[in-house]
Amino acid sequence: MEQTFIMIKPDGVQRGLVGEVISRFEKKGFLLKGLKLLTVERAFAEKHYADLSAKPFFSGLVDYIVSGPVVAMIWEGKGVVLTGRKIIGATNPLASEPGTIRGDFAIDIGRNVIHGSDSVDSATKEIALWFSEGSVNWQSSVHPWVYES
Ligand code: CMP
Repeated sequence: MEQTFIMIKPDGVQRGLVGEVISRFEKKGFLLKGLKLLTVERAFAEKHYADLSAKPFFSGLVDYIVSGPVVAMIWEGKGVVLTGRKIIGATNPLASEPGTIRGDFAIDIGRNVIHGSDSVDSATKEIALWFSEGSVNWQSSVHPWVYES
């Protein structure tokens, strides 16, 4: 079953949006497979965003990610990578549709509440980076919303 990596960024945690984010993914029918609250080191944030290292906003982005605790999650379900991105909304919150997380809760691309993997390949890499093997304990895969499992 497809999995994606979702991270609630420091602004989302500080603003008390953890429950709201989890609720939206749960109500849609996705299954929470991994969850942890942690503050990451600079080198770790740079590794997560390595593809963006040449961008002018890179160092500000890393400052932001290390500025406080984040909530790292693995979500599982049919089409969860693409649909997760739809639930989150466009990267720039001003371009995000109302009804999406960023569309409802953010106004600044540099404080956009949440990250979600942009492809199945990225999801595999990000899950491996954030969740070392054996750290995801709940291996049950009951999907009550899905007819064929
Ligand atoms: P995210 O979905 O985590 O993927 C890369 C992140 O880079 C993005 O969300 C934003 O937080 C950040 N980002 C992208 N473009 C800009 C920008 N122009 N200025 C500041 N931050 C940006």
